[in-house]
Amino acid sequence: MAMRFAARTEHGFRAGLEAWSVIGHAREAAARGEDVINLSIGDPDFDSPQGVIETAVTALRSGRTHYTPAAGIPELRAAIASYHMKIARQPCGPGNVVVFPGSQSALFHALQVLLDPGTEAILLDPAYSTYEGCVQATGAKAVLVPLDADNGFHLDIEAIRAAVTERTRVILVNTPNNPTGTCFTRGELYKLGEIAMEHNLWIISDEVYGPLTFEGEHVSPAAIRDIGDRVITCSSLSKSHAMTGWRVGWAVAPDEVVRRMIDVAQVSMFGYAPFIQDAAVAALTQPQPELETIRETFRERRDVIVRRLNQIEGITCDSPHGGMFAMADVRGTGIPSFDFAMELFKEQKVAVVAGDAFGPAGSGFLRIAFTTPADRMAEAGDRIAAFVRNR
Ligand SMILES: Cc1ncc(COP(=O)(O)O)c(C=O)c1O
Repeated sequence: MAMRFAARTEHGFRAGLEAWSVIGHAREAAARGEDVINLSIGDPDFDSPQGVIETAVTALRSGRTHYTPAAGIPELRAAIASYHMKIARQPCGPGNVVVFPGSQSALFHALQVLLDPGTEAILLDPAYSTYEGCVQATGAKAVLVPLDADNGFHLDIEAIRAAVTERTRVILVNTPNNPTGTCFTRGELYKLGEIAMEHNLWIISDEVYGPLTFEGEHVSPAAIRDIGDRVITCSSLSKSHAMTGWRVGWAVAPDEVVRRMIDVAQVSMFGYAPFIQDAAVAALTQPQPELETIRETFRERRDVIVRRLNQIEGITCDSPHGGMFAMADVRGTGIPSFDFAMELFKEQKVAVVAGDAFGPAGSGFLRIAFTTPADRMAEAGDRIAAFVRNR
């Protein structure tokens, strides 16, 4: 008899699969000893802060190895609430926090409590490529609203409004944005909130890059008057603290959402490693001098690569105000972005991700991560220039 599976797992959850294959090629080539510059995956190349590592080791040695409450240990929930008030500027308490292994898991669980099969979630295209799969995993439908590259990928409020139907439950927003680097303004987020209020929708705000804001201040939708009680903010220590592999993230949400998220977390995760939670408390409450260095280093690398890219004929690149990616517009070269990324890797061993990986609106662009020292970023720029010149 044929094996039977859930229909929603039939076609896989991984959007833009082919465009991501460059990551695998880069790893293989590097393992062969080739001179690869890998600017593809968003994993900071810094060590995690030393004090955080020490705290985890001490916790492991002192028996912090047992089950913990599904919502997270009280100390960490309190530390996250204080941090959220500082970064996102929304008043909240430990009871508004649920700890998850990464923002990714927080998003997944938020969608689990908000969506039913037959409902819809609005995603802004281009979008971080796991969003669509997270929606799909609930049985709901992802509705993509394209953002206009020539408007800096800012929110197209009218297009978002037009995409709302009676089935819409959620709008998912990410600022500073991956892949575009765009930081949405208070004004546009306010208008997004108006749509949410008019149509009784939730906003899920993914703010993993919030602390990596270089110019201006990070604006969290949750901080905008009147709409805070419709917002679920997901974030983590992955990018700001160079702690991707530790898997520490959270959701901050209104009481009823928290109650339901804990219910789901109880059956999906059944708690979370206490020695990592202790380390996360240290990351959030003790001075971590490395954080300023991480942000400033990303800023320096950004300046190097953006300047160099804008000197190449056919390429333009806006300077992102936050995050760890630049989105280079390569339409002027006449080379389709997918081919550009693949050929660039073959010829010059520079790995970047074609914007196609993030949705149709990303086509024509390359996402370039700031994941290697400034001199190597400059070298990557030179190799991209050589690639275009040789065409
Ligand atoms: C926009 C965005 N959200 C979420 C994640 C997942 O991060 P975490 O490590 O917090 O799960 C990433 C990782 O690249 C990301 O870019």
